[in-house]
Formats: sequence, structure tokens, C-alpha cells
Amino acid sequence: MLLAENKEKIYIKCIESIKNTSERNKLKLISTLLFDSFDSWIFCGFYFQDGDELFISEYSADKIPCSPIQLDGVCGTAILKNQIQNIDDVNKFEGHIVCDEKSKSELCIPFEYSGIKYVLDIDSKIKRAFCKVDEEYLLKIIREI
Ligand code: SME
Repeated sequence: MLLAENKEKIYIKCIESIKNTSERNKLKLISTLLFDSFDSWIFCGFYFQDGDELFISEYSADKIPCSPIQLDGVCGTAILKNQIQNIDDVNKFEGHIVCDEKSKSELCIPFEYSGIKYVLDIDSKIKRAFCKVDEEYLLKIIREI
């Protein structure tokens, strides 16, 4: 598990790259940069809502993610409640949708972009991978989109 100050350093570097890029596809850049920066992450990507389902958008991952998914998982709960879901142990979340059985903890941050509801979804292969520092910096990153 990374120390908060080490996480901060990584996020600050990512934010610099995102601010200074000429890449127009920010979702792709963000998912790639973040995924490549954290060793314990096995999925980092975006889902968007279309009706009663969530569809995969840009992502980086060890495995091809499931799509579409229903709204009763961690991602859907984040969107429906418009609330960050920081899940220390995915096995304890009723309704958790398993895309990669290696996933142990998950962080979902909902936001709206161009009138469409999105969620930034991150899975880690270790339990309790995410803390307030992750939430704080990922919200900053989402503001750069
Ligand atoms: N676990 C998520 C599904 C998406 S994957 O983790 C990539 C959920 O419960 O909504």
C-alpha cells in the first residue's frame, strides 16, 4: 500500500501531464496515465450511462472489461446516488459486478460531462487500496476534462 505522500507525488505528476498535453482525448490520456502510474491497479476507465445501462468508454486494464453493465453494481450506485463509492472490500458490496476476479477494492467517482453521466472506475488487486487522498486528487483530475 502506497503512503499518502507518495500517492500525492504521483497524482501531481499526472495532473501536470494532463494540463500540458496536446492530446484531445482526455479520457484516454487520463486512464492510461493513471493506470501506468499505480502498480496495484488492474482497471482504470470510464463508463457512461445510456438509459438503464452503463457502457464502457476509454479504459486501460489487465482484462477486457464487461459492458454494458447494470446499475446495481458499484459504478451504477455511484451514478444513481451521485456519490463517490470507495469500497475497501468488493466482496462485501452486495451487487458488485465482477469483471476481473482479481479485483479486491474499488473506487467510483461520478461526474457529468457534456450532459452525459459518467463514472471514473478504478479497481485494485489489493484490499483498502483507496483513501481520501485518491478521492481528492481524482476529483481534481476530473475537473481537467
Ligand atoms: N465492478 C464494477 C463493474 C465494472 S468493473 O469493475 C471494470 C461494478 O460493480 O459496477
